[in-house]
Amino acid sequence: MKAIPIKPDLYWVGAKDWNLRDFHGYKTQRGSTYNAFLLLDEKVVLIDTVKSYLCEEMMTRIRSVVDPAKIDMIVSNHVEMDHSGSLEAVLHLAPAAEVLTSVHGEKGLQAHFNTSGWNLRAVGNGEERSTGRKSLAFFHIPLVHWPDSMATYIPADKVLLPNDAFGQHIALGSIFDHESPLDVVMQEAAKYYANIVYPYGSQVEKALAALQGLDFNLIGPSHGIIWRRHHQLIMEKYKQWARHDHEEKAVVVYDTMWGSTETLAQAAQAAFEDQGVPVIVRSLKHSHISDVMTDVLEARYVVLGTPTLNNGMLPTLGAFMTYLKGLKPQRKTGFVFGSYGWNPQALKEVEEILRGLGWELPEPAFNVKYRPQAGDVQKLKAAVAALCRRQTNEKKGEQA
Ligand code: FEO
Repeated sequence: MKAIPIKPDLYWVGAKDWNLRDFHGYKTQRGSTYNAFLLLDEKVVLIDTVKSYLCEEMMTRIRSVVDPAKIDMIVSNHVEMDHSGSLEAVLHLAPAAEVLTSVHGEKGLQAHFNTSGWNLRAVGNGEERSTGRKSLAFFHIPLVHWPDSMATYIPADKVLLPNDAFGQHIALGSIFDHESPLDVVMQEAAKYYANIVYPYGSQVEKALAALQGLDFNLIGPSHGIIWRRHHQLIMEKYKQWARHDHEEKAVVVYDTMWGSTETLAQAAQAAFEDQGVPVIVRSLKHSHISDVMTDVLEARYVVLGTPTLNNGMLPTLGAFMTYLKGLKPQRKTGFVFGSYGWNPQALKEVEEILRGLGWELPEPAFNVKYRPQAGDVQKLKAAVAALCRRQTNEKKGEQA
């Protein structure tokens, strides 16, 4: 294992977590990568580390170009342990190294480690530090996605290292975008945004505005591939996602007990197709909530179905609604459907959460007693058609 050069005297020294399948509840079917970077200037600088169980992989890569005891500075862009988990191990070898972090980062590191013997220093927003021939500049990007989040910029190399921003949970044989399947990488970038960054759209917009003025041609996030050729593409996508822009697409999310709600979900699918709206149907028995959130990210219409069980929604939809509420997608058009035996309560709960998110619910909840009959299926299709027509009419009104 070796350090991989990404610019003159700047190396990738991260680690690949091939077997990771769960990142605190986010399904990572393609594993993940923790990206750390090593600058060999007059000062030796390590920018971020890796999860503790992959420390030796990072150390091996560092040792391939320099003795880790020679590290003068460690930049901690983010306290979370997937990036700071090997800090103590590095400081064990280089105890005098200065640890640079944001103001919130300093507090976070003090909460996670015994930092009493550390040479720990908080850097201000925009502060620059010389490393000899080059320099580092630090930009605070709070809540993208923790209060301490920071980006490190190397002007001489035109390199931006923004930690979690623009990342993807993926482990590939390559580390660069132009050597990777771009559609897969973009899909994982969307999943990462939908599951990690989604609640912080306004903070992302502020961060983008601050970083956009910098002259860079490479973005090295802390997860996944490095954007060397497509950095503008991912910046544009982040702008779109931060604005909560959507496309004329639908996602139907449901679970079912005896098949009634599933029949309605199929009817909703047919109705969207009839209206020419691309639709994805996700049964929560078969799809993970983190994958469903990726579908939600760019969809205008999010349609949710559940029967009533014990006076409420099915627990699978309950888990999804909790997740959705926390991730706060905005500017969606919702519609709720389901079935019940004697107490039609579940849909009220679902609608209450969607109203709390500020979603539009132009059509009333559609609830069927026991089994949907042919007429019910037609009524549901008519409701979905009305939902789509309403949007089309609104668009025409905007253009007039
Ligand atoms: Fe990749 Fe917020 O840690």
